[in-house]
Amino acid sequence: MSTPDYSPEERERLLADIDEIKSRYPAGYERSALIPMLHLVQSVYGYVSPAGIAICAEQLGLTRSEVSAVATFYSQFRRHPVGRYHVGVCTNALCAVMGGDAVWEAVSAHTGLGAEETSEDGAISLERIECNAACDYAPVVMVNWEFFDNQTPASAVALVDALRRGEPVQPTRGPATVPTFRENERLLAGFEDGRVDEGRTVGDPSLLGLRLARENGWTVPQEEQK
Ligand code: FES
Repeated sequence: MSTPDYSPEERERLLADIDEIKSRYPAGYERSALIPMLHLVQSVYGYVSPAGIAICAEQLGLTRSEVSAVATFYSQFRRHPVGRYHVGVCTNALCAVMGGDAVWEAVSAHTGLGAEETSEDGAISLERIECNAACDYAPVVMVNWEFFDNQTPASAVALVDALRRGEPVQPTRGPATVPTFRENERLLAGFEDGRVDEGRTVGDPSLLGLRLARENGWTVPQEEQK
């Protein structure tokens, strides 16, 4: 795989964005900006490229090895290009028993992709993901980190087909349509996309305990004063 370097225009924009990210941190603590900088880097080519590692190291006074160590520790950072739509099927314990394994088998067979593989047209990549703290909606599929709750093999295959056709697809919670991987990576770097008020932010199962507590007058026990 060739490893692209940034064009002068890309580099100029990256450096301006990196300056903005670094300015969010107190003087002397700029290296804390590494995580959002890696998301920014991913927003350019859809992965953390060697050129991205180099620019983070250069701008933070770190070695490339130090930056690589962080980029390889967190599973959100990819070392190979992902698709416009990065599809993650949760196969962790609860999702697995609720059908996540069957969802994975169906999507993998339908696309011909295995874990960490990207389609030749660059539209879809596939990943097995760990728990996304959405167990009350198991089995869960994520596309570019947006939630698709209560999936079945058939619904997940239909979802992937719609994404491949370039149709606008609405997550169960979150924005009105799924942003591309690169768009969401820029958002994760801290650059607002103006869509924060779109869509549902929370689903009924997450609020069930609160509703039952209110209906029954349950409150948090107070500590007894001695
Ligand atoms: S096990 Fe899948 S979201 Fe928790």
